[in-house]
Order: sequence, then C-alpha cells, then structure tokens
Amino acid sequence: MARKIVITSGKGGVGKTTICANLGVNLSRLGFRVVMVDVDIGLNNLDVVMGLEKCIIFDLTDVVMGKCRVRQALIQHPEYPSLYILPSSHSFTKSSINGDHIKNIINNLDKMFDYILIDCPAGVDVGFHRAVYSANEAIIVVTPHLSSLRDADKVLGILNEYNLTSKSLVINRMRGDMLLSGDMMNIESIVRSMRIPLIGVIPEDDTVSSVSSVGYLLKTGESTRAFTLLSENIHNGTKKIYDCTYKYRGLIGYFKRGLKKLI
Ligand SMILES: Nc1ncnc2c1ncn2[C@@H]1O[C@H](COP(=O)(O)OP(=O)(O)OP(=O)(O)O)[C@@H](O)[C@H]1O
Ligand SMILES: [Mg+2]
Repeated sequence: MARKIVITSGKGGVGKTTICANLGVNLSRLGFRVVMVDVDIGLNNLDVVMGLEKCIIFDLTDVVMGKCRVRQALIQHPEYPSLYILPSSHSFTKSSINGDHIKNIINNLDKMFDYILIDCPAGVDVGFHRAVYSANEAIIVVTPHLSSLRDADKVLGILNEYNLTSKSLVINRMRGDMLLSGDMMNIESIVRSMRIPLIGVIPEDDTVSSVSSVGYLLKTGESTRAFTLLSENIHNGTKKIYDCTYKYRGLIGYFKRGLKKLI
C-alpha cells in the first residue's frame, strides 16, 4: 500500500508545488516508485515545474470523464524512471470533479506506487477538501511569516476533521543570514506556534526560483541538501534538519551576511 501524502498550506505561493516536485525526485532517487498527483485543478503548475508540460496527452479530468484509464494519463519522468506525474487539467470547471473522483483515482494507483504525493491548491475551499480527502498523511508548508502561519493554523484545525495518521511541518524559504541577525522569526517559535513535528527546513535559494521559472528540476543550489534530508526524514522517520545558518557563521559568513544586506 502506498503512503498518500498531501502537501498543503492554506496560504498560496509558499512552495507546495516546489516541495512536492523535489520530494518526488528525491524519493525516486532513493529507489521508491512515486507518483505526484496535481489536484490544483485549473492551474496545472506541477507539470510546468517538472518541465513535462509538453508530454501531456491525457490529464486528471480525462480520467474522471472516462476518456482514458489512469495508467494512460501518467507521465513517466524521462530522467527518473520510477517517478510519474498525473497532471491536472487547464480547462475543466472545478466543480465537476469531487473528492470521491480523486479518491477512486488514488485507490487505482495505490498498488503501483510506494508514495502518492498530492499537490494541494491554496485556500481551504472545495479544492482543498478534494485534495485532502484521499490522503492519510499531511505535510503543512509554511514560510517564516505571520500570514503564512495564521493560514496554516486554520488548515491544521480543519485537518483535525480528517482521519490522518500524521501531520508534519516544513518551513520553506528560510534565510540563514536573517535568522542569525534576528530579523526573521526563528525555527523554535514557528514550531511552538504550529504544535506539529518539524521534518524539514528549506532555505531561500535563488536557484529554486530560476529553475522553476524555466521548468527544470533543481540539481544544484543550497536547497538540494535540505530536500535530500527532508526526503530521508519522511522515509526513515528521522528528524535531521538542514542548518540554514552554517554558511553565514564565522568571519567569511560575517562578510557574506554583509553582502546579502547590500543586495
Ligand atoms: N526555497 C525557495 N527559494 C526560492 N524560491 C522558492 C522557494 N520555494 C519556492 N520558491 C518560489 O516561490 C514561488 C511559489 O512556489 P510554488 O509554486 O511552489 O508555491 P505553491 O505553494 O505551490 O503556490 P500555489 O499556492 O499558487 O499553488 C515559485 O516561483 C518558486 O520557484
Ligand atoms: Mg502550487
């Protein structure tokens, strides 16, 4: 049976799709069969971030409408053969697809994969419920900003209505230089306010935004190590957290911090 993990946040643009894509790659590198299901219906970001937009023949809506079988809509990643994506659709009216449709699809994928990663849309309306309904675990993504934490807190309250076996926290876009200077909310306060276990901290990394804007996956950059640790934590149940501050410590780090302030 596959682990079915929904990646959610409440607030938009905090990095759900980025984290889903990088988790998919890292878990498949660890040897697992992974499928990422884009339930952000109407916006289809996951295939774009993965650089697979042009490979789409069928999508989630086609599966729901009975135009194809779920296997036919899966896109295999050319570089990571155990990684697949089930793309969302650009065009269909959202209300036509409900939680039971998604659940049927996920149940069909259950035996074929070790991990089913569900990329959830922003907000807490029907799209959110549709995505969470088939999951048995949730990753809540936040950034170190009050607005993100408030939204995530609301999401946590709603998630309590679902029968999830675990809810874990990932802090994205953490700035090591600002953490050291005290200009950013620290990790301990975020974890204390969210009251769920922390399984990853991903640094702010210019490489992430530059690769996602052209549709390629991250292979270098500060956050690659953080994504590897996050994937290992998810699989092994460990809690190894990436230290975003290490490159800003010591004399060289002091200059780096100064430089970062200037730009
Ligand atoms: N760690 C990071 N460092 C730098 N940029 C990042 C990081 N994580 C995400 N981004 C950038 O932030 C933007 C939003 O990311 P993403 O699309 O993954 O968010 P999302 O939560 O899925 O958004 P939505 O709610 O619209 O679905 C993208 O341009 C992405 O490249
Ligand atoms: Mg997204």
